[in-house]
Amino acid sequence: MIHVAILGYGVVGSGVAEVLHENAGAIGRRAEEEIGVKYILVRRDYPDSPFRDRMVRDFSLIEQDPQVEVVVEVMGGTGAAKEYTERALRAGKSVVTANKELVAEHGYELLQLAREHGARYLFEASVGGGIPIIRPLSQCLAANEIEEITGILNGTTNYILTRMIRGGLSFEAALKEAQDNGYAEADPTADIQGHDACRKICILASLAFGRHIYPRQVPTQGITELTGADVAYAGSAGYRWKLLGRAIRQADGRLCIYVAPHLVEEENPLSGVEDVFNAITVKGNAVGDVMFYGRGAGKRPTASAVVADVMDVAKHRKGPGELSWAPGGEDTVAPADALESRWYVRLAE
Ligand code: HSE
Repeated sequence: MIHVAILGYGVVGSGVAEVLHENAGAIGRRAEEEIGVKYILVRRDYPDSPFRDRMVRDFSLIEQDPQVEVVVEVMGGTGAAKEYTERALRAGKSVVTANKELVAEHGYELLQLAREHGARYLFEASVGGGIPIIRPLSQCLAANEIEEITGILNGTTNYILTRMIRGGLSFEAALKEAQDNGYAEADPTADIQGHDACRKICILASLAFGRHIYPRQVPTQGITELTGADVAYAGSAGYRWKLLGRAIRQADGRLCIYVAPHLVEEENPLSGVEDVFNAITVKGNAVGDVMFYGRGAGKRPTASAVVADVMDVAKHRKGPGELSWAPGGEDTVAPADALESRWYVRLAE
């Protein structure tokens, strides 16, 4: 059994506990070991939570418990989250996080600290919510020189822009909906002023180009200056406003990285990315263009990425992770005449 401690019980923390509990069977099978939540660090009581028996208020309990191998940091911010991450790594515990602010500001030092203490620091959920992008970029595309990354990296602003054009909502009403859906940051100015997208393009650029890129190095403009009239006019002219984060390797080898609203033509696949969805295109010098698409924010999509990182730690503690599955059997696939899918078309014989 792998024992996990979750730091924080907000939108993402409660989602992580839920997914680990609900999908325990599949998770245990794929990780080749059961994974259980031993502690949840909270700042207040949750008397109705099914996990209330594991809630604690003192991080030292977690730090000093040798059974805890993985700490999931979903508190957000760079204060207590940084302190607890460092203490967990120094205690040899791996840390999994969705905290893009912490990774964008301190990822280099935290990765170094993890390495010094034989632990791991994983952050698949920090960019793109449930979209796999960190691992594909650092592993599957590792043979490429990355030439460009362009992405819709913030679900809240994409939701606002979509609801303004499709639902005719005001900026404020659309933002309120995004907050009610659990997409926005605790302080939504980080979303609408572009800082959240900036942190995410910094993380992707650091991975792709191999040097830590700090948010302060990246010119950033959000969507606060866009009016309803701007949004409607773009639509009538065959364009959509999209907040894009971009990192481009220039011909002289230097990087051009920025976040800004762009007018995207309707023919461009990014223009069809709506609501809370994110999309990231990566251009590699061997693979060409690759696109990643999915839900970029929200409780369960983000929890999906966090739990996958926890499972990665579980698998790797036994040695290098390898792809694997169990032997086959006649009972695994339904016979063709038993298929219920409406997409199944029987070809003429
Ligand atoms: N506030 C973020 C967003 C959450 O809207 O994309 C996911 O990182």
